Amino acid sequence: MNGHQGYQESVNMSGLILLADGAGAAQNLSIFSPVSPPAESIRSLFILVLAVTAAIFLLVEGVLLYSVVRFRRSPREGAEPPQVYGSIPIEIAWTAAPALICFLLALILSRTEFEVRVNPDTPPPGSKPLYVTVIGHQWWWEYVYRKYDGRDLGLITANELHVPASEEGVPRPIYLTLQSADVSHSFWVPRLAGKTDLIPGRTNHMWFQTSQRGLFLGQCAEYCGTQHAHMLLRVNVDSAEDFQKWLGDQKKPAVDEAAARAGRDVFLSQSCVNCHRVRGTSARGTYAPDLTHLMSRKTLASGMVPNTRDQLRNWVSDPQQTKLGCLMPAFGLSGQQVDLLVSYLMTLQ
Ligand code: CUA
Repeated sequence: MNGHQGYQESVNMSGLILLADGAGAAQNLSIFSPVSPPAESIRSLFILVLAVTAAIFLLVEGVLLYSVVRFRRSPREGAEPPQVYGSIPIEIAWTAAPALICFLLALILSRTEFEVRVNPDTPPPGSKPLYVTVIGHQWWWEYVYRKYDGRDLGLITANELHVPASEEGVPRPIYLTLQSADVSHSFWVPRLAGKTDLIPGRTNHMWFQTSQRGLFLGQCAEYCGTQHAHMLLRVNVDSAEDFQKWLGDQKKPAVDEAAARAGRDVFLSQSCVNCHRVRGTSARGTYAPDLTHLMSRKTLASGMVPNTRDQLRNWVSDPQQTKLGCLMPAFGLSGQQVDLLVSYLMTLQ
């Protein structure tokens, strides 16, 4: 029994890459449907470079084909056609033309580079920027919400990013600071921005901004070990009100339901607490995803499977069945302990 059924990738006939997320919805991951300025710049650059190189390809292949046909060996002409050596005008022409094309492409590339460049210190006037630090782990994403619209947040969550949508006259740029806790990863949500690596011992930056609400999927784009393919990204672009509400909910400490106390006691008595944090309890681990509002997330295991009671049961019983190689071992809990634990986890709204 494994938990991979929620995840499948396919390439459809039109060449768009579609990814079915852990909650079962098919998603467009094409770089040709950008909804954010950096992704738009990258698409424009791609199309322009493709057009220039396609024109060169057609020209060169055209001349080649013409020559093959026009100068093919014929029984009437025994000798070779006239040979041309060391023509200075021709030498200059075929050196200068490619040099000029390369120079123009370099200029265009620099312009794109400038457009996608991040300057989190000077967000556009009138904007409400959100600052989040993303930390890549084998194999999940940690999000530290630092600041929104000038206010400090100090909030930590995992795997499912929520950001506010921009509105007419109120841009809400999202500035990501990228770090890694172990090996190199890469943050790539194709419709929002280009890839940016998360590298141990180094800090990278990226940004995006969109007025289109909804869920945008992505992938870790740098090989980072066995479960690299299962390090999925989910970015929820919410309306400003929904985002504000989400922030408010996330800031609350974990609920403490009397009915789930027995499960909570199992949780707190096991080694769960060494790695996981549930704010408001003695579980203060920082090594694994924060579980304070676990049930506000739609998926488990970094987007692999839906976050349901069954999948939680599978996960708690033996995470290796769902995500082989992940750092959480099976703890050999009894069936009753697993039931209590899952019932407690289900209360963490
Ligand atoms: Cu993380 Cu690949």
